[in-house]
Amino acid sequence: MQFDNRAIGVFDSGIGGLTVARLIQEQLPGEDIIYIGDTANLPYGEKSVSQLIDFARRIMDFLMANQVKAIVAACNTSSSVSIDILRDRYPVPIIGVVKPGARAAVRVSKNMRIGVLATEVTAKSSAYRREILSIQPDARVWEVPCPALVPAVEQGRTADPEVREAVSSYLALPLQNQADTIVLGCTHYPYLQSLIAEVSGERVTIVDPAVETVTELKRVLADIRGFAQRESGRASFFATGPTNSFTEVGARFYGRGLGRVETVNI
Ligand code: DGL
Repeated sequence: MQFDNRAIGVFDSGIGGLTVARLIQEQLPGEDIIYIGDTANLPYGEKSVSQLIDFARRIMDFLMANQVKAIVAACNTSSSVSIDILRDRYPVPIIGVVKPGARAAVRVSKNMRIGVLATEVTAKSSAYRREILSIQPDARVWEVPCPALVPAVEQGRTADPEVREAVSSYLALPLQNQADTIVLGCTHYPYLQSLIAEVSGERVTIVDPAVETVTELKRVLADIRGFAQRESGRASFFATGPTNSFTEVGARFYGRGLGRVETVNI
């Protein structure tokens, strides 16, 4: 049995990707993780496609220089506009979150009416609609831009009444159309999962693409015979700008201390 003890790279604009990194650690405890949050350029949801491609390349160069064996683009916004370009350019398996999220949504929906909460860029790209329709052509999909949610999460305002109001207004369209499944189409939104579930009501299933993404990562590591061989791996955290959301909000959610978050200039 071959093994590979190099780290898995994980990136996002900020603390959103920790929702994926946490699951990787839970399910693959022997793996080292190098996590980078591009907080200097956050929020990604309102950037142009060319800016997002530029950010993704810088991050990829940083992770490649750290000799990672696989990369999880734990950011829907980046995945929805740059993943194919990155796959052409970098000789490393890159796992995005949109395709796994779409697959999970189609699996759980009974009436094939699916709402996707996402950033403006992700919603506009129609990446989820495309992926869902490629699996289930007669599905109906409502992709809703939710600009207020990433700043609220980064600032730790996950229980504010204004955030609840914003969530209600974003959910109105899919719920009026009897969607039975809501995809958390931004890795920041699992921080708001209980609020989103409460507003959606019991008959709606909430899909966090992180779960299927980690399943996909395991499949890829099995294919490349790339699992680490050790009991317990280490996670290192980097940010390109402010680190306060990592220590104040991220650590609470991550369930274990993040240790030092190092600032890097890339
Ligand atoms: N968490 C990211 C996503 O999944 C990006 C959010 C943002 O920076 O706007 O889309």
